[in-house]
Amino acid sequence: MSKIFIDKFKQFLVLRKSDNIDEKIKDFTDFIYGSYYKNVIYDEIVDFLDITRGKPTRWETFAKYIRKQFPVSNFPKVLDVGCGSAADLTSLLVKYGYDVTAIDPKVDEIEKLRTIRKLFDYTKEDVSKFDLIVGLEPCDATEHIIRSSMNNNIPCAISLCCTAHDSIDGQKFIDQDEWYDYLLLITDSKGVIEKKRIMQKTHKILKIEF
Ligand SMILES: C[S@@+](CC[C@H](N)C(=O)[O-])C[C@H]1O[C@@H](n2cnc3c(N)ncnc32)[C@H](O)[C@@H]1O
Repeated sequence: MSKIFIDKFKQFLVLRKSDNIDEKIKDFTDFIYGSYYKNVIYDEIVDFLDITRGKPTRWETFAKYIRKQFPVSNFPKVLDVGCGSAADLTSLLVKYGYDVTAIDPKVDEIEKLRTIRKLFDYTKEDVSKFDLIVGLEPCDATEHIIRSSMNNNIPCAISLCCTAHDSIDGQKFIDQDEWYDYLLLITDSKGVIEKKRIMQKTHKILKIEF
């Protein structure tokens, strides 16, 4: 049974054009056999377990939040920064009727989606045609999204990573809470971090509205 489960996980990763597949399979195998020792678990392990257990995925819960907070009628054009190779959030938002552009150095062309394969840099990217910028655990892109949102008066919603990332100028943080405080500072009191429990899951979402 476990071997079939691990093979299914591998297929899931291949389909998503995931990177570091061997390492993820090793971690998943350790997880299944009870010898997992790391503090941080790959998102895709959580995603796979959620899907196989019939639970809502990270992108389903976040898309539901976006739909409620930023209805498509008022915020039709969306930029999804750090969409990942599978661009799951983008696909779902397109299904909900948003006109979405997805950007990530890891994303290839995906049928029926508008994807841009490159790093988003707030100092270079023109975001003026968008009504909303979103990011689902966008790692190093988080600060870029906030600065772009602030500079252009465009609202944003970011489902925050659970681990701290360095600031753009290389500052390091002790833990995610210190990083969150830094991110809030950049918003000049415009941002709020909401702890949302949606469909049995807790998400920390940084939102800026104008
Ligand atoms: C943890 S993954 C999340 C991917 C996807 N949103 C998801 O939740 O499945 C973080 C992603 O952010 C991307 N990323 C990091 N910095 C970026 C930047 N400056 N511009 C665009 N994408 C970036 C990485 O390439 C990676 O795919």
